[in-house]
Order: sequence, then C-alpha cells, then structure tokens
Amino acid sequence: MNNQEFSPQERAKQKAGYKAAEYVSNGMIIGLGTGSTVAFTMARLKERIETEGLSIHGVPTSIQTMIRATELGIPIIGLEQADKIDITIDGADQIDPKLRLIKGRGAAHVRERIIADASLHLIIVADSSKMYDTLSGPIPVEIIPFALSHVQKRLKKLGGKPNTREGVKKDGPVISDNGNIVLDYYPSERFDPIKLETEINMIPGVVSCGIFAEFASKTTVIIGDEEPKIITLLDLNQ
Ligand code: 5RP
Repeated sequence: MNNQEFSPQERAKQKAGYKAAEYVSNGMIIGLGTGSTVAFTMARLKERIETEGLSIHGVPTSIQTMIRATELGIPIIGLEQADKIDITIDGADQIDPKLRLIKGRGAAHVRERIIADASLHLIIVADSSKMYDTLSGPIPVEIIPFALSHVQKRLKKLGGKPNTREGVKKDGPVISDNGNIVLDYYPSERFDPIKLETEINMIPGVVSCGIFAEFASKTTVIIGDEEPKIITLLDLNQ
C-alpha cells in the first residue's frame, strides 16, 4: 500500500512501528510480536537489513509472524536457539497508565507472553487509541480444549461472561497456533489487573490470559504520531 493511502490510524501505527526499529542494532536477537503495528517494524527492519547490512535474528511469536519474517528476508531462529532475547517489539490492544497491557486480539498472546518473559526489554508499539485510563474486557483466554466447559464455569464464578471466539472463514471456535481454544472474557466489573491475571491463569486448563501486568518495569511504549511519544515507567514516576 502506498503511504498516501494510509488512514490516520495506519499512519500512526507506521510511525510507532518504524520508531521501534531504531532501537535494533547489529547482533541483536529480536522477539517479533504479532499484528498490524509490528508489521511496520518488520518492514523497516527489512529495509535496514538491505540498506545498512543490519545483522539480526528474529524469534517470531506466531505462525503469521514467522511467515511474514521469512517473506521479508528477516532471519529467524527458534526460542531454543536464542541464548537471550535483547528486545521484543510487539503490539497491544489496551495500555494503561502503569504500562499494563491487554493482548491477544490475534490469539497470539501465549507465545507473546513467553517471548516477552524471555526478553531483556519489551517495546510496545501502538496508536493512541490503545491508551486507556483503566484496562477493561474483553480479555482473551487460551484454554486446552478438554477443559473448556470447566474454565467457562470458573470464569462465570469470577463474575462476567466468557464468549468462545468464533473463527472467520472457519466454522466453530478459533484454534490458536498451539492447538487450543480461545475465548474472550468480559468481567462484570472493574478489576485489579494483577489480581485478575493471577486468578485466571490459576484456573486448571487455562494456558494463559491476555492481561500482561508483570512486564511494566522493562516496557517502553511507543505511541505513533508525527513525533512518536515514548513512555517508560521511569518517565511516569518522575
Ligand atoms: C496479537 C496481539 C497484537 O499484538 C495486538 O492485538 C495488537 O495488534 P495490532 O498492532 O494489529 O493493533 O496481541 O495477539
């Protein structure tokens, strides 16, 4: 797509995605997140590989990202081949003022959490529509198929409504890259992100939910704008 054809939101995503690519330097291992914003980072990394000879390896967080990286010529390795991940660059669906996140619109949050956990730094790229005063539903939850009915009951007991996510151009539920079912959970009231994340992740059969409350101290958020806005917890505590 030509730059002129971008909507203001796509342009903001591009600005954020490109800015994040500036943090990448030779020899780094980069966690490659999933979604439309990090796709811009990957496009910029491809340009830097071609024009500057940038030498990096990427660890993809989804099948979609693995395919995209391969098409772009970004060398990829498996998590087991990475001694460490220097930086992961990923998108988010919601970001609160304490840099806690909701992720998983693309049902990639399980691998995204693993890669974020394995990384020294996490850069979140987004447009300003992702900034929220407080996190709210839907919260994606990945579940082992055997446990679906049990997890649904447990989530109802926590208060709120679990909706199994339906496939598009596929009958039945969305199946994640890990072969599991994904549902979207709508809490009935305002919640404490750390508490709810722990409660959901403790339900037997849940692989992981999309609340990411534990990475804030190593997170930098880049909000796309003409001059992208860069937010870290250090700035917020000043
Ligand atoms: C996928 C995700 C994405 O990172 C998140 O949905 C943001 O996507 P986009 O950049 O397309 O808005 O969590 O599971």
